[in-house]
Amino acid sequence: MRVAAIGDLHVQEDSVAPYRELFTEISSHADVLLLCGDLTNFGKTSEAEILAEDIKSCSIPVLGVRGNINYKYGQPEKVAEILHGAGMTVLDEQAHEIEGVGFAGVKGFMGGYGRGELAPFGEPIAKLFVDEAMNEARKLENQLRTLRTERSVAVLHYSPIVETIEGEPEAIYQYLGSQRLCDPIDRFDHVKAVVHGHAHHGTYEGRTPRGTPVYNVAQFVVKPLFGRPYALIEV
Ligand SMILES: [Fe+2]
Repeated sequence: MRVAAIGDLHVQEDSVAPYRELFTEISSHADVLLLCGDLTNFGKTSEAEILAEDIKSCSIPVLGVRGNINYKYGQPEKVAEILHGAGMTVLDEQAHEIEGVGFAGVKGFMGGYGRGELAPFGEPIAKLFVDEAMNEARKLENQLRTLRTERSVAVLHYSPIVETIEGEPEAIYQYLGSQRLCDPIDRFDHVKAVVHGHAHHGTYEGRTPRGTPVYNVAQFVVKPLFGRPYALIEV
């Protein structure tokens, strides 16, 4: 299966069919399209409606996750509902299967990596913060556990590893993802690839500790490499 993936679409309220042509092009090159969060510029329903129209021009299945920015207006469910109405599968609680390939996805959360990882210690609010990252990792694990496919793809917005955010200032690494997202990925043999966005100045390719390939498909990372804003990955 050939999977196209693009992150950080940032559709704006005043844009006119911003992805229509691209989605039509992708439909002729790939079997599935994955959208890796920050779908709209803020999280307004008016922006989601513009993207929804473009999603309708896609003739292949579209799946994806929301990004942190899609929570800005406090209506992430509404955004998901509009995109779902256009035929997109918004991954969050339930995995999805297409032609024998599994797809599991969550937005993820921040929290850092290695020595820089925030621990659930001290003030209740610090524990709550870490809980959010653990929760996202748990949701991903639950989805991966339900899949009975030989191959699957994990779809995220935040990064599970440091390698693919390299290029960003080191001081903000802990806001770009959490290594807690890596644990469920490395627990299941069927995960063959991971895609994420969020780190606009990161690095395209990396690997989890167990060796599963991870791709940062933020369009600003992919475009300079391939001359097109989406990645094509064989699964
Ligand atoms: Fe983001």
